[in-house]
Amino acid sequence: MSKKIAVLPGDGIGPEVTTQAVRVLEAIRSDFEFETALVGGAAYDDSGHPLPASTLDLCRASDAVLFGAVGGPKYDKIQPPEMRPEVGALLPLRSELNLYANVRPAKTMKALLSSSPLRGDRGRMDLVVMRELTGGIYFARPRERRDNGNTAVDTCIYRRHEVVRIAEHAFAIARQRRREIVSVDKANVLETSRLWREVVTEMAQSNPDVKVTHMLVDNCAMQLVRDPGQFDVILTENMFGDILSDEASMITGSLGLLPSASLSDPKDGTVFGLYEPIHGSAPDIAGLNKANPIAAILSAAMLLRYSFNDTENAERIEAAVESVLEDGLRTADIAGTETSPITTVEMGDAILSALK
Ligand code: IPM
Ligand code: MG
Repeated sequence: MSKKIAVLPGDGIGPEVTTQAVRVLEAIRSDFEFETALVGGAAYDDSGHPLPASTLDLCRASDAVLFGAVGGPKYDKIQPPEMRPEVGALLPLRSELNLYANVRPAKTMKALLSSSPLRGDRGRMDLVVMRELTGGIYFARPRERRDNGNTAVDTCIYRRHEVVRIAEHAFAIARQRRREIVSVDKANVLETSRLWREVVTEMAQSNPDVKVTHMLVDNCAMQLVRDPGQFDVILTENMFGDILSDEASMITGSLGLLPSASLSDPKDGTVFGLYEPIHGSAPDIAGLNKANPIAAILSAAMLLRYSFNDTENAERIEAAVESVLEDGLRTADIAGTETSPITTVEMGDAILSALK
């Protein structure tokens, strides 16, 4: 039976990079059926809403979602702010599809070690940030102004079950890696963090094959720069994960190369998920055939791994990407001054031929 993949290219460079990811999936699997829908600014222009009901319905009827990027200067002034592409499309997609487990691997690739802002070997790292994605300060209410606009209120709430389910994902992923979780919180100040630490501590006792330690978020931010190689899985709440995953990605020296997965409940060894590059819509280079499609292509590899249990093909794609980088092929974002850059489509071509 064929499997349905919802393709949401979005804005800016989203469509260009997503096209390359779809080409790669088409080359590898003959049982995928792709259906494209509008999201973000493109959807807002079309229908006045960044996440039309038809797009959400398509996602619900699909086996996985491949997402490009949303947003751009054209949409920054939309009122109310809840209708802006990032907030009006991405956040409701996450909550409506119950995508509470955000997996953000950050691994330095050998061919790009010299691009890390950390000197020499110090930039070498291979970690995964497991970020809780549908709770905490991003979603809790009230969020409002009081006192004639002079007081602003955001609310942070975590419930035990929300911590349990993201931690379960973290244990599962740790078991496929080096079996070490650092749970990151601010338990010296925040009540939500004390609950978080309590729950993770209990779960560590019933999962003794994984080593669990706890770290305060400010210390973690510092440790990432001091010695990023010490981390295997970082398990953390929504906002800390947002910040730490940007920090970790930059240490790889290649923001444009990193994929991510946002996952729901596991079922029969696979899991419904939305897969997207961590980079944004890069409106300044949109439509110029300049964008790096690697993050989108590696997101397609994550789609195979998590939603279809197809580790073999996921690894094939990852190996193809590493090999084109080792051959010295570079899009403009990583070309530096010595190499002349290739285009988005040429990078897609190169990865396709490396797959064969
Ligand atoms: C991310 C982004 C989003 C977030 C924004 C665009 C709402 O920064 O996916 O990390 O904060 O979650
Ligand atoms: Mg972010």
